Amino acid sequence: MLLFALLSACVTEEKPTPVVDAPTWHADIAPIVQEHCTSCHVAGGVAPFELDGYDAAAPLAASLAAAVEAGTMPPWGAESTDECQPRFGFADDIRLSDAEKELLRAWADAGAPEGDSAAAAELPAAPVLDLVDADVQVAPLLPYVAAGEADQFRCFSVDPEIAEDVWITGLQVVPGNPQVVHHVLVFADPERESAALVGADGTYDCFGGSGLSSGGALLGAWAPGAFPFESPPGTGMALSANSLLVMQIHYHPIGQVSDADTTAVQLRYTAEAPAREAVLALLGNASSAADGLDTGMNDRGARAEFRIPAGAADHVESIRYVIPEGDGPYSIFMAGTHMHYVGTDMLIQVDHAVPVGDEPATECLVQTPRWDFNWQRAYSYDAPLDQVPVIRGGDTLRLRCTYDNTLDNAGVRQALDDAGLSEPADVYLGEETLDEMCLGVFGIVL
Ligand code: HEC
Repeated sequence: MLLFALLSACVTEEKPTPVVDAPTWHADIAPIVQEHCTSCHVAGGVAPFELDGYDAAAPLAASLAAAVEAGTMPPWGAESTDECQPRFGFADDIRLSDAEKELLRAWADAGAPEGDSAAAAELPAAPVLDLVDADVQVAPLLPYVAAGEADQFRCFSVDPEIAEDVWITGLQVVPGNPQVVHHVLVFADPERESAALVGADGTYDCFGGSGLSSGGALLGAWAPGAFPFESPPGTGMALSANSLLVMQIHYHPIGQVSDADTTAVQLRYTAEAPAREAVLALLGNASSAADGLDTGMNDRGARAEFRIPAGAADHVESIRYVIPEGDGPYSIFMAGTHMHYVGTDMLIQVDHAVPVGDEPATECLVQTPRWDFNWQRAYSYDAPLDQVPVIRGGDTLRLRCTYDNTLDNAGVRQALDDAGLSEPADVYLGEETLDEMCLGVFGIVL
């Protein structure tokens, strides 16, 4: 076979010399694309074009390789850095290995050869984003059209009609119109408050959270292409009987009538109390500066101030939170970061007062060094529950958020543009688009 290829290269002199050992689509590249790209780049998927075969992928070979090398594709925020090496890998990690990246590059450089379809490598199963065994799928009654072109945050009230106390073991969001649904948060509404908040179109305006006075426990956070949330085996999140759900949807409209969207939530639940309860906890600076904000950069007095001055390119806010003695232990099975548009990097660490076993004294839970508001999500550790990081009373949780409040920051440009503004202003703590937060999202088992 190799000899034949060499011979034919010699006799057909007009054609460019084929690179003999170059990877081919059928032998090498199709399985990589199937595994790492087709959760989004499929018909009806969230990506704007399909990568469903050689004819679709070959003309794009160079840009596919470049996007993968740049780390922009597949979208994934949690990285190991000099400052942060989480002890475990993450579940559903769709990043490519270095060897896979090199194959993609070599394939592109060789002119994207197709190879022999008769000898094609076996394809891995296509990624499944639906929640298997969902007990209920619920969606708003009316489709919503996000008019115009500015980003919008709408809350929807939906009724899963569950008449008993249950524990949620799985949750997934199914975007109705993947072209406009940017990301979604799901909250519990046990007091059924949201029913009174919605207008005639079945929605209400909300940015930072659920807009509920009772707060509303967070049940899930979804970004395009996200795999279903599954609570660790033997755990579940409590949802009291007759609760409504609030879906906060971030729309990024494209200015077309076809923007109409009906996004659904899938839940899997059990009425039998699990061995341990799971909760999603938010900790850090959200609407009011919790104790623990460090004094530092650009504070105007002796007191710690959450303020990112206009024009500050490398501003840091850090928060220190000592877990009260007697609290916990909490097993952290998932960690995520949350800022708005000014953020560029967020790091979450824990200092263990008394490290146990081979636990490091300072442990990094997650870092998102190329923060992108549009791709925010939480990351579950790829480790059994009895091995994941544990936080105990006396430990210190540390959050560090870095911001760039200049026009060099694409997030700032987008947020100002949406608000019809052109120059950065001082940014304070708050829930609006042009406010900021420094918030950790934790999946915790009590
Ligand atoms: C989680 C969903 C998702 C996955 C997985 C994904 N993409 Fe994308 N991709 C998108 C979306 C959405 C866009 C449109 C641009 C944007 O929103 O960033 C895009 C745009 C692109 C672009 C054009 C813009 C750019 O960044 O250069 C390329 C090239 C690309 N993807 C390649 C890939 C490849 C190669 C893979 C697999 C290795 C992959 N993508 C996996 C969602 C995804």
